Amino acid sequence: MVIKSAELETVCGITSKLPENTFPEIAFAGKSNVGKSSLINGLLNRKSLARTSASPGKTQTINFYNINKNLYFVDLPGYGYAKVSQEIRNKWGKMIERYLHASTQLKAVLLLVDIRHAPGENDVTMYNWIVANGYEPVIIATKLDKIKRSQKDKNIKVIRETLGCGKETKIIPFSAVSKQGKEEIWNLIEDSIQT
Ligand code: GTP
Ligand code: MG
Repeated sequence: MVIKSAELETVCGITSKLPENTFPEIAFAGKSNVGKSSLINGLLNRKSLARTSASPGKTQTINFYNINKNLYFVDLPGYGYAKVSQEIRNKWGKMIERYLHASTQLKAVLLLVDIRHAPGENDVTMYNWIVANGYEPVIIATKLDKIKRSQKDKNIKVIRETLGCGKETKIIPFSAVSKQGKEEIWNLIEDSIQT
């Protein structure tokens, strides 16, 4: 896709009213620090449109990026951020759930997991939620540049088994450094907004 414009249009906090967008939405979910904002920047060829950070918990709002005035990328707050109190974490879980439930334009949820580690309990919960709500799950295994090439297949197998996904579920390795996987992810996004 040719990116003609990309701008942060709406920022929602815990108590904000969610926007009633009329264009398709693609959401990015995953635990804190997994690379959601980096993936968004990578897909859009922008260095720092979505704010990234080495310390987890950077994105604490739901951010809607308007792409080409016909598509939204939705950067969700990372779950499982330890330094945030349980109460706030619960509120955020509810907010994410509310968004995923209420959006009428959501076409796909990309679930990001770190390719180096087995997915955690929250990842499994999020995966099951995506499936239960009728979305085709797409797993993005991030930080591909941090493992040896020879480890890739084994790690993907662990991710597939831990999440309990079938063979038909796509797991796409991605690196924000090399941009490997970018084209495949865009193809998937384009397919999902056609339908
Ligand atoms: P929260 O907003 O806290 O939920 O985090 P996030 O999921 O948006 O992660 P973010 O994109 O801010 O990335 C977290 C850290 O991981 C940053 O230091 C990034 O530079 C780094 N990072 C993200 N993706 C990659 C990658 O593919 N390769 C490498 N080497 N580092 C990455
Ligand atoms: Mg972020």
